[in-house]
Amino acid sequence: MSESERPEPWGKNVLVEFEDGIAWVSLNRPHKRNAMSPELNSEMFDTIDALELDDRCGVLVLTGSGEAFSAGMDLKDYFRANQGKPHLEWMRIRRINANWQWRRLMYYPKSTIAMVNGWCFGGAFTPLVSCDLSIAAEEATFGLSEINWGIIPGGVVTRAVAAKMNQSDALYYIMTGETFDGAKAARMGLVNEAVPKDKLRERVRALARTLLAKNPTVLRAAKLGYRHAKNMDWEASEDYLAAKSAETNFIDPEKGRSKGMSQFLDEKSYRPGLGSYKRET
Ligand code: COA
Repeated sequence: MSESERPEPWGKNVLVEFEDGIAWVSLNRPHKRNAMSPELNSEMFDTIDALELDDRCGVLVLTGSGEAFSAGMDLKDYFRANQGKPHLEWMRIRRINANWQWRRLMYYPKSTIAMVNGWCFGGAFTPLVSCDLSIAAEEATFGLSEINWGIIPGGVVTRAVAAKMNQSDALYYIMTGETFDGAKAARMGLVNEAVPKDKLRERVRALARTLLAKNPTVLRAAKLGYRHAKNMDWEASEDYLAAKSAETNFIDPEKGRSKGMSQFLDEKSYRPGLGSYKRET
């Protein structure tokens, strides 16, 4: 079966809507506040895998159906149902979860935006932090609720939190389990910004359009460059980023670098400090 004949993997626990280059991907268990079950995790992995090569998706927006972004891992279908299972089986279930929530999402070759429309608890912090950018509704409610039901923020939630929140905020919310709203999440830098809920989709659409207007090859390299260099020492970063730049120039079908230079230096048609060079597409 060829790639184009393969049935779309979403439709049950995950919904996808396409709009001019934006793929709106919704966790879709609204009756369970989009809690993430093993079944949802498999469907989500297959969905983002399929969208990687789908031309209808230029920017992936991750959100939730109904009133929740996601209430985190499903206490019944993920935790209780797998209690006492052989360790190898449990490791496999955890891996399927990790495979989309951070392994794939964090290094996804297309730009990703988390649109936090409502409840966002525990395990939901992992895909949130793994998206490149994030916009929340001011009214959204966030919480590291694990302490409230007797576990630590596992999976990689604690690691994800450490990547975005400062130590005072991280330990406060890990240890108290108190909630905070979208406006506070933006002040803490957990999300890029917060807007009133009725403006959320419009703001995310505008941000996605900004990204869609950029050279996608360079955008991909810039994002992956950041993700990898962040974990390297300075010497390794210098060398890696030089190699990444050379690779980007080499593979870029638009030849953006030479166009950008020529439009500024020769044609004097724009100023790179104030906007982008003129693309042909
Ligand atoms: N796991 C499993 N089921 C969940 C769930 C979760 N994380 N979050 C919500 N649900 C289920 C509820 O059990 C309920 O199922 P039911 O209708 O079969 O009884 C349904 O979703 C609706 O939840 P309810 O609590 O009635 O909704 P609410 O709008 O009043 O409250 C929350 C929403 C998110 C505040 C609340 O559901 C909650 O605290 N969920 C757990 C959040 C959490 O601790 N997540 C971290 C997991 S690591």
